[in-house]
Amino acid sequence: MNKLENRGKKVLSPVLARYHAGFSVAKARGSYVYDDQGKKYLDFATGIACDILGHCHPKVVSAAKKQLDRLIHACVGVALYEPYVKLAEELRKIVPIKKAQSFFCQSGAEAVEAAIKLAKFASKKPGIIAFQGGFHGRTLGALSVTTSKMKYREGYEPLLPEVYIAPFDLLLVEGLLKENDWKIGGVIIEPVLGEGGYVVPPSGFLKGVRALCDKYNTLLIVDEVQTGMGHTGKWLACEHEGIVPDILVLAKGLASGLPLGACVASQELMAKWSPGAHGSTFGGNPVCCAAAIATIETIKKEKLLANTAKLGRYLMNELSKLKASFPLVKELRGLGLLIGVDLGNSAAARKVIDLCLAHGLLLISTGKDGSVVRFIPPLNVSKKEIDLALKIFGAALRDV
Ligand SMILES: Cc1ncc(COP(=O)(O)O)c(C=O)c1O
Repeated sequence: MNKLENRGKKVLSPVLARYHAGFSVAKARGSYVYDDQGKKYLDFATGIACDILGHCHPKVVSAAKKQLDRLIHACVGVALYEPYVKLAEELRKIVPIKKAQSFFCQSGAEAVEAAIKLAKFASKKPGIIAFQGGFHGRTLGALSVTTSKMKYREGYEPLLPEVYIAPFDLLLVEGLLKENDWKIGGVIIEPVLGEGGYVVPPSGFLKGVRALCDKYNTLLIVDEVQTGMGHTGKWLACEHEGIVPDILVLAKGLASGLPLGACVASQELMAKWSPGAHGSTFGGNPVCCAAAIATIETIKKEKLLANTAKLGRYLMNELSKLKASFPLVKELRGLGLLIGVDLGNSAAARKVIDLCLAHGLLLISTGKDGSVVRFIPPLNVSKKEIDLALKIFGAALRDV
């Protein structure tokens, strides 16, 4: 065990589960991280889909440094500042919601909390429908709509009341809504199940949910914490289905790894959330907002949505070839550069991921039992880097 592990073992809560016990990182740049021995790893885990421009992108670093020199914190409740407003203006340009307004917080779970509170407050109905296998965060409200792993809930129940967990079956969702529409204020869904194993719902499913929300006068909350900000080749995964959420939840890649979450809805809906009904001391920190503005600008300038779509197709295609050669690979799923390789076997996935790490490729698993290996490189990854990852991953499949 290295020195850092030893020190950590003494002072860190054991509640922190880690994908790679014994692995630590000292610095990072672009698509690579370096451990404290200086060993280089190609990073296809990106801090769980956060480092969407790779590590320490110069534009993000420069914007954050400039902001650090100007204003670190004011609390938007105390004084408004430029980056908070500018980021909301930039989001309005890229989200499909008309006249979008934003509330900023610091994490995905917090953004989900905000979305649930907005849905309840605005609809005056307490109930929320969520989907089997969904993950929305660890705080008590977000946990109440999370079922990707039941161990996340153990020891904390009872959670929020009036939460209904639905299967991916439109008839059953309609049945739930029909019986309970008087008390269902919102339906929350991930457009691609993230922690649930990178499962893309059947084509038309999101459209069907949108139509049901309209029919039963319920707000549709789309949680794009993992899928948003370009990972699927479009700004938002829900755009692939052409649907418009009532409430949109963003975090992770929003500020390229700085902690920032957003709850976004139309001006009309936000008008129902009265001043003081929600708030945050640190939410929408100036440095994080400056990093997010630089992130959006860079995605546009460097045409990274197109890069993601193109290299996502390439990666999926090459993975299909590996699937054809290795029966260990059961299924490939995903959109853009958010791809899950389902090995259907958690021990094998563990072995493959460990072998990849030993050979310089950082990957993590997902899914109920961790049997899915996920590929979430940065949006500006190169074909050469993808080829290197495929080479290491292919060799690991062969060895397991
Ligand atoms: C879809 C989704 N929603 C919410 C969250 C919670 O985000 P955070 O860990 O920033 O609280 C996650 C985190 O993985 C997520 O994938």
